[in-house]
Amino acid sequence: MRALSSWRSTWILPSGRRTARAQAQGAFIITPSRAAAPPRAGCFARRSHRIPPILPRPRGKTLDVVTLRAVSTGLAEGQAPLKVVWAKEGALLPQGEALDARFEGRLRQALKEAGLKAGESLLLYTEEGPVLLFGRGEDDRESGGRLAQALQRLAFPEALVEPLEDAYALAEGLLLGAYRFDRLKTKREEKALTLLLPGVSEALLERARRVAEGVYLARDLVNEPPNLLTPEALAERALELRALGVEVEVLDEKAIAELGMGAFLAVAQGSENPPRFIRLRYAPEGAKARLDLVGKGLTFDSGGYSLKPTESMATMKSDMAGAAAVLGAFKAAALLGLPVELRGYIAACENLVSGRAYRVGDVLKTLSGKTVEVMNTDAEGRLTLADALAYAEREGAERILELSTLTGAAVVALGEEVAALFATEPSWGERVREAAEKAGEKVWPMPLEKAYREKLKSPVADLKNVGDRYGGAIAAALFLAEFVQVPLVHLDIAGPAFARKAHALGPEGGTGFGVRTILKVAEAL
Ligand code: BES
Ligand code: ZN
Ligand code: ZN
Repeated sequence: MRALSSWRSTWILPSGRRTARAQAQGAFIITPSRAAAPPRAGCFARRSHRIPPILPRPRGKTLDVVTLRAVSTGLAEGQAPLKVVWAKEGALLPQGEALDARFEGRLRQALKEAGLKAGESLLLYTEEGPVLLFGRGEDDRESGGRLAQALQRLAFPEALVEPLEDAYALAEGLLLGAYRFDRLKTKREEKALTLLLPGVSEALLERARRVAEGVYLARDLVNEPPNLLTPEALAERALELRALGVEVEVLDEKAIAELGMGAFLAVAQGSENPPRFIRLRYAPEGAKARLDLVGKGLTFDSGGYSLKPTESMATMKSDMAGAAAVLGAFKAAALLGLPVELRGYIAACENLVSGRAYRVGDVLKTLSGKTVEVMNTDAEGRLTLADALAYAEREGAERILELSTLTGAAVVALGEEVAALFATEPSWGERVREAAEKAGEKVWPMPLEKAYREKLKSPVADLKNVGDRYGGAIAAALFLAEFVQVPLVHLDIAGPAFARKAHALGPEGGTGFGVRTILKVAEAL
């Protein structure tokens, strides 16, 4: 395998321009049959047409919806258009108590009468100005998220927020809760919110901001519609990380074919939008360890000839949430200056139906050399990942953390909030599980049951890409494990990557699940 730097010949520049060298080598090929096809009426997405059908507003500063500021004065002495006091089961926290002492216990009295639950609020007008009594729950991050959303529904531009025990989790929750995706709306609410946090350090807030930048990026990428966020567009967004010192290289279709990624290419071949293989490297001086990340990058999954019903297809723009988590983590890691070398690999493509699409029954040759019989074109993620994982190992990965919206079966097993964790090596699995717990992301260990390998046997090839009706998430994980020798953790994030309705830490849509876990794993290496 050639070294990282020698791949520059296949770099694609942002917006699809070619380097002179790449051009000379014929990279970024448009095959005659496809290039010659006339654009259909109302269709913009032919390969030679790069004008998106709608032009979204430029992305502004990501964290412009909410500003957190550290202040030294507490709730009783501080000045602000609104003061927020936390309450739980009729009790106040110390700063709330101090304020209430000045009101001769009237806050507590109001609380008693209203009986506030977590996430509920009570707006009181005192002689010193408005006070919002807000019900906190068990989790300080979620309490922050709920508060940010409640404050966005009120008109106060600024509020002084009583600190919670875990000040960092509160700050992170406030930032995540305030997230909005409104770039594609023609009328945008320009309201900005400033939150003053007494007694927290500026360093703590800065850390929360940088982590939130990563989560915001992952959420944006998931929320962007599949006609705008094509594989090429995803690659361009990855290339933007170069401004932060991340090395990013993008391989085009020709380079992917030359490498021998036959499974990835087969999934991609049904689309007019060409695939991109994205590789990233963040290597700060004096890095103490290395972590290799792989993310599923299906910018849209129709199921292919094993077509999904419309309701299931409706959220399939989120099928690149694993890739989004990887990119979000790279962004945050670079902003934080994390002392760990990160490598990232994303096979980006879409799974569509056409006269060129792969079929049920096709036999594919993967990068690893193993052959796979396609028994369901909707089990496409594992095919793209098989090649991405094998590639990561070739590039010298010592251990791999892979994230993918891989199976509906994982959602059936664990619901929409918990990711399934599979590990080929128990200690590596345990490290990721602990990191997720610290990050406040829910994962649960699942078995890589060897007995089920039988299900993946094919009469004509080394493997087939699906098992039977049962244990689908396990079968998918076993399939992935066939393509790497080094310790692998596979996180099936099909449930928690996309929220069908608003939740404590944000609105409906992409959640950015995985970014915080990756950062915690990297920190603990
Ligand atoms: N992208 C889907 C999995 C998915 C389902 C993600 C629901 C998010 C929400 C994946 O490519 C898929 O379709 N998997 C199939 C596998 C089956 C054909 C063995 C599934 O889960 O039905
Ligand atoms: Zn699928
Ligand atoms: Zn998929």
